[in-house]
Amino acid sequence: MTLLAVIGAGSMGAQIAQQAALHGIEVILQDQDQAQLRKARDSNEGHLARRVEKGKLSPEDMDAALGGVQVTTDLHEAVERADFVIEAVFEDIEVKRSIFKELDDVAPPGAVLASNSSTMGISKIADVTHRPDRCINMHFFYPVLVMDLVEIVRGPQTSDETVDRAMALASAMGRTPVLIHKEIDGFIVNRILHAATQEAYRLLDAGVASFEDIDIAVEKGLNWPLGPFRLGDFSGLDVTYNARLHMYRTTGDERYKPSPQLEAKVRAGKLGRKSGEGWYRY
Ligand SMILES: NC(=O)c1ccc[n+]([C@@H]2O[C@H](COP(=O)([O-])OP(=O)(O)OC[C@H]3O[C@@H](n4cnc5c(N)ncnc54)[C@H](O)[C@@H]3O)[C@@H](O)[C@H]2O)c1
Repeated sequence: MTLLAVIGAGSMGAQIAQQAALHGIEVILQDQDQAQLRKARDSNEGHLARRVEKGKLSPEDMDAALGGVQVTTDLHEAVERADFVIEAVFEDIEVKRSIFKELDDVAPPGAVLASNSSTMGISKIADVTHRPDRCINMHFFYPVLVMDLVEIVRGPQTSDETVDRAMALASAMGRTPVLIHKEIDGFIVNRILHAATQEAYRLLDAGVASFEDIDIAVEKGLNWPLGPFRLGDFSGLDVTYNARLHMYRTTGDERYKPSPQLEAKVRAGKLGRKSGEGWYRY
């Protein structure tokens, strides 16, 4: 049976661990901050309790799933017996590299080391280890307890066996994996989302339609649950803006240049739901 260690108990790590435990996988969740571990447990309990209220989960299965996630602040304890490690700490390359170095020292030599990074190909991290062939990206989507997809991204040195093990783990967790053969900014989903969102901003900037009507068109005509402006408000307009700016600066490609109207929102502090106003008021 697989023993999974999840490193980092923030928005992603907490739910990755819980999703695995819901599917009977033994999990140890580690964070350097004890308060984050408590928050993770409380938040997962809230999510599962709502499923029980709706009759989608039995109280016994809820207890088993919550009890299936052990927690610790000790990295060694978390990984010393692990078959598989998923890292989900801050999106900071130096933090990730130092954790991978430590994981490589402590985890059993056969263990796979995966990163949930949204932007860093595993090759930027795996070279600190002696097992780049057993390192891989597993990109889950927020909220992991709801979103069914995992993008599995292999690096140039990732072995076929590691790919197979990552695909199998995602499936065992009740999630659908897709395999990306090359490291590429944005992987699949964010590239397509960004392309569509940029087009929505171009239509807005050209005065073709209002943002409300563009959202309605995309929601009703493409069956997206949220149009690009509503989705931007949900994710945070600063996040959308910074992602565009990063792509524009690194590629110099005009296609990625952030919209002046998006920039104006961010400068005015209208960041979406979290600030009470973005494209819409909350
Ligand atoms: N939030 C998203 O929508 C999303 C989606 C997909 C992937 N990701 C990726 O997941 C990763 C985590 O994102 P998040 O939103 O959960 O972040 P978060 O800020 O919510 O959580 C990060 C956690 O890592 C912990 N941490 C930091 N340094 C640590 C260390 N040295 N040892 C142990 N724990 C440490 C922090 O205490 C915190 O609990 C990032 O790489 C991000 O790119 C995020």
